[in-house]
Amino acid sequence: MNDRTKDYVFLSYSHAEQDEIKKIVAKFDDHSYNLVYDESLSYGDEWDLSVRRYISSSKCKGVIFIISENFLKSKAILTEVEYTAKFNRKFFSIMLYNMSLPELKNTFYEKLSENEKYIMDSIQEVLNNEQLYLKLSEINWERVGKTFKEWNFFPEKNDTSYLIQSKYSSQLKGEKERLFNQQQGYMNFDMKAIDSVLDELTGDDLCVLDLGCSNGDLTFSRFKDIKRITKVIGIDYNENDIREANAKAKNYGDKFHFYTADLEDGNIITILQNILAENNIKGVDIVFAALVIHHLNNPHKLMLSLYEIFGDDGRIIIRGSDDGGKLCYPKTNLLKEILERYEKLVTASDRSNGRKLYSQLYDTGYTNIRMLYSVVDTCEKDRRRKERLYEVGFSFRLKRIEDLLNQNPDNEWLKNEYDWFKNALNEFKDAFLNRSFWYCNTSYIAIGGIK
Ligand SMILES: C[S@@+](CC[C@H](N)C(=O)[O-])C[C@H]1O[C@@H](n2cnc3c(N)ncnc32)[C@H](O)[C@@H]1O
Repeated sequence: MNDRTKDYVFLSYSHAEQDEIKKIVAKFDDHSYNLVYDESLSYGDEWDLSVRRYISSSKCKGVIFIISENFLKSKAILTEVEYTAKFNRKFFSIMLYNMSLPELKNTFYEKLSENEKYIMDSIQEVLNNEQLYLKLSEINWERVGKTFKEWNFFPEKNDTSYLIQSKYSSQLKGEKERLFNQQQGYMNFDMKAIDSVLDELTGDDLCVLDLGCSNGDLTFSRFKDIKRITKVIGIDYNENDIREANAKAKNYGDKFHFYTADLEDGNIITILQNILAENNIKGVDIVFAALVIHHLNNPHKLMLSLYEIFGDDGRIIIRGSDDGGKLCYPKTNLLKEILERYEKLVTASDRSNGRKLYSQLYDTGYTNIRMLYSVVDTCEKDRRRKERLYEVGFSFRLKRIEDLLNQNPDNEWLKNEYDWFKNALNEFKDAFLNRSFWYCNTSYIAIGGIK
């Protein structure tokens, strides 16, 4: 990148190794690290001043030395090393030729002139033995990332805040089918939670509020046959879905009503109160939210404000998922990388939502909280069921990245990520269908009360 307008790490190297250096810079580029180096300057007064500026700048977060024979005997490098020390810059070294420092020195030390020996000793006074020396072939990006983090230096493109992040939309190709399959898979799990709160609540005229109800398919399937529940209100910000839901609602008499509203709207409680009034509902008995809380920026805020619309008693049922609840073998590292890269890329939803549900309810004052768990796996499943499990847990990821790419069409990094995911997900899907492959996913329901 060699961009001095942004935070950078200065690269100190011998110009004799220009070609090798280009390869190193390309590797850091791939990881989106902005390295600054003096590729066009030649040694002299100008050069000295420029290097001083480069290293003393507040944008310079540290220095990397690329160590070779030429590096160790260069007067220019000695200047760079001295500025590094003078301005207290953090640094580490990369051994260009995969030798340790003593091994490298053995290859040429005897041939050095007195001046060269003096330069080398002076350089080494600063590059003491305790510092980190990485061999080029062994660069571990996790370690480099950690070191840079300590320097307050971060990769350019892992910061996704500059990407246009689209909100969740069920309109993406194939998403409706995926949701439908997913809903079927969670039928028993949801019913277990719903039945248990029905056992605790009294009365025969109960009202349910389904948050993030999409096109109503899940809402109908869970509540249509429960006689004690006489009113169900569904809320979603997707107008098309709500239109579809209201059209289907006609098949169920006056029980289901759907409304378009954004749960993050500052007036959401007034909006909900008006909807309840319109339907002659005094208070909600059950709030149900399946796979929606993780799309919100501030779930606590919504959970707290819901107290305003509950009746005398009430229960909240929240189903969430968590990428940390996904395990497999083999391909463990592939799964880990898919999940990690996805989380960095798509920041519009919280992929670690399941583990937070308990404390979210606790912190917002709900009582008698309990957690339910549902585990699905590939164990001895036929091909169709394995494919379905893969589709539900993974296929949406590529579509989501494609959507992001459509909105950021010039973003090279995103293009690379898209290609990476395409290959990685194909490889993972193939593994899924392998007889000896095991995958397992846990989903979570949190139930809380209001008194
Ligand atoms: C993954 S889908 C789940 C749909 C359904 N509950 C299910 O489990 O099949 C998430 C739903 O939440 C809705 N949603 C996301 N953020 C929302 C918000 N801020 N306000 C209202 N609805 C939202 C989306 O439109 C989508 O229909």
